[in-house]
Amino acid sequence: MGSQWGSDKYYKKSLKEGYRSRAAYKLLEVQKRFQIIRKDDNVVDLGAAPGSWMQVLREMTDAQIVGVDLNPIAPIENTAFVTGDFTTEAVQEKIRSLLDEVNIVVCDASPKLSGQKSYDQARAIGLSEDALAFAVKILKPGGNFVIKSFQGEMFKELLDEVRDNFYAVKVYRARVSRKGSTEVYIVAKNFRGRNNSS
Ligand SMILES: C[S@@+](CC[C@H](N)C(=O)[O-])C[C@H]1O[C@@H](n2cnc3c(N)ncnc32)[C@H](O)[C@@H]1O
Repeated sequence: MGSQWGSDKYYKKSLKEGYRSRAAYKLLEVQKRFQIIRKDDNVVDLGAAPGSWMQVLREMTDAQIVGVDLNPIAPIENTAFVTGDFTTEAVQEKIRSLLDEVNIVVCDASPKLSGQKSYDQARAIGLSEDALAFAVKILKPGGNFVIKSFQGEMFKELLDEVRDNFYAVKVYRARVSRKGSTEVYIVAKNFRGRNNSS
């Protein structure tokens, strides 16, 4: 990573400020703009390795934080972590068992890239749909959801699905995201609840 991103301002900042990756600044930016997390919110972080969002979350809330990733991470004090695939029933059950209730789900997960653009886009959207389906299962009505996505094929369909489930939805391009990337964050507030009819 060092030589490729060595000159990157946010990479350098993350080293200086003790965050595990430059991704930390994306969540900080989203929070500054949209105030999605409150001090007493329990949070689930999907695709959490190496853990910089969990570090930031630990500063944002005093309540429970559970991260999950295919890859293990070095422990972060006063948080829980599950190693595994969040799209599977067993891992979802494990996550649920670690929290009293869930007020916020954040998801920065991305699948491994193959380099084949439309294949990668389809997989990224598929993963986002899985994350949304899980969020809908575990969130309390009124809860918030933030998910990384990529503009392109099927993005509009994903966004519509998010809109069906949350009262207020915005698409935000973080200044920290790399130039030329299609990466955006869908920021969804106020979960309608599992029995909404819209
Ligand atoms: C960009 S990184 C997340 C960075 C993280 N937000 C941070 O700040 O440290 C994306 C992560 O998504 C994870 N991931 C992708 N698919 C997953 C899945 N099905 N279950 C769990 N984690 C997944 C990858 O292993 C990878 O670590």
